Amino acid sequence: MSFQAWSAHFLKQVKGVNPFDGDCLPTRVSLFGFGRPTLPFPHLWNYQEPLKIFETFYWDAEKETGAGKHNRYLYVAGLPPVLLSRDPTIIKAVLAATGDKPGQFDRDTSPTAGIARATGVDSLLYANGALWRRQKRLSAEPFSRANLFQPQKFHGFEQTFRKTVAERLEALRALQQASGKKVSRIELEPEIKVVMLEMLVNNFFGGQVSCEELRNRYVPALESLIDHMISDTVAPISQALYRMFTGRNAILKQQKADFETLTDIALSGRAEGRGLWKQFESDATNDALRANIRVFLAGAMEATTSFASWAISHLSHAPDIQEQVHAEVKDMSVYDPDNLASAVTLNRVLEETLRLTPALYFLPRRATVDTWIETTDHRKMLIPKDTCIRLDVWNANRCEEFWGEAITGYPAVAFAPDRWEVLARKGITAKDMLHFGFGHGPRFCPGRFLGLLEVGLVVGAIVKVFKFRAVNKVTPARAGVSTKPGDKVLVDLELRT
Ligand code: HEM
Repeated sequence: MSFQAWSAHFLKQVKGVNPFDGDCLPTRVSLFGFGRPTLPFPHLWNYQEPLKIFETFYWDAEKETGAGKHNRYLYVAGLPPVLLSRDPTIIKAVLAATGDKPGQFDRDTSPTAGIARATGVDSLLYANGALWRRQKRLSAEPFSRANLFQPQKFHGFEQTFRKTVAERLEALRALQQASGKKVSRIELEPEIKVVMLEMLVNNFFGGQVSCEELRNRYVPALESLIDHMISDTVAPISQALYRMFTGRNAILKQQKADFETLTDIALSGRAEGRGLWKQFESDATNDALRANIRVFLAGAMEATTSFASWAISHLSHAPDIQEQVHAEVKDMSVYDPDNLASAVTLNRVLEETLRLTPALYFLPRRATVDTWIETTDHRKMLIPKDTCIRLDVWNANRCEEFWGEAITGYPAVAFAPDRWEVLARKGITAKDMLHFGFGHGPRFCPGRFLGLLEVGLVVGAIVKVFKFRAVNKVTPARAGVSTKPGDKVLVDLELRT
């Protein structure tokens, strides 16, 4: 940022001028305030609790009327403003105006700087502008609905996915039987994570890694690297010093080497056309694909684990709904699109899981120029150049005003798959009521169909084999790159007879 731009921001901040314009103005969040959960920006002591930082933005916002209640900005130190929005119409307008055309929003890469250092900057997730467009074209074909859901291709995937899930659950079932106990207490999230990585590496990319190696070597390496990516974004210098003085650089080096080996394994099927590679026609070199493969491995494992873990966690608190899903899947042997579509409760459970507990809880954007956006109800907002935008999907989806009893028949903060039935009866579809679980607009998730297939399979298969009850009355969320159940899905697990 030039000195001129810095001083212009600084002056506006001191004078208290609102840098936004239009008829849905955001209101300012003060830097300090008494009784708030934390400071309204990430630092060494709060970066592991991002949901608290968002909460701080809305502290006292209830007093505001109009747009300022849901759209808040922070404006300090001569820096461009940070806009946080939990207003679905604003979220939709910004997402729709994101892309590579002049004047469109970029994905803001500052919250993912550590991820880019670990995966490479030329990935579909991190890149902007022309580079992003090229990456999008490359990945469009293998991820397309037409491809994944075309009967012959689909059945190939579905069979190997199903076999993998069945093998993992069989091992869990054998463990349960061997223990001689009717009920065993277990954290299910680590089990789900191994299955998700196995489906990606072995089934999707056609790799050949044993489950033990995934569990003992690659999953721990990816988990530590993901933690490292977050701390390396917030406090790169202090983290580097910490590693130097505690001798952790060697461990990090080994984990990065493991990640590279896993990327090699995912790429190794390309020459023989194994897994997804059958559908991939491109003259791009393996090197040009590495950043994307790393993002697919780490990002997809994280997002699908979050999604499936939340779904199982919600069901562990709702035995009645668990039984309804069981009635739908107990005789289902093939998870093809028709069968999955007929499992109405399972589909509603998945939709509601993404609404209440989205894996990606906020979507970052940056204004490349002064930009006017317009909502579907024709309100306008001018967002100044360089504004860092945080689209707060987590809180938007929990707002009574948008998702509460008056509209959906159930409180916004409740897990209530039946709200989708209430909405359907009113003629309102998931498209009308966007929860942004897979994003929206040009940067929509390319892995949606693959992810839904994997999560539907895992959740359906677990319900088919086991009954599970939550150990804790309430499950808090923990948030990092994605959100996850704070207790790692701690349940009492019982074999169905
Ligand atoms: C099923 C769980 C998943 C969820 C909930 C999820 C969620 C999302 C969301 C919300 C976005 C939009 C981010 C934004 O607008 O800033 C996104 C983008 C993305 N997702 Fe997913 N995702 C999932 C699975 C996957 C899988 C399985 C893959 C790949 C194998 C994948 C790859 C990506 C990529 C590369 C992007 C960036 C796309 C772009 O910027 O053009 N996701 N995902």
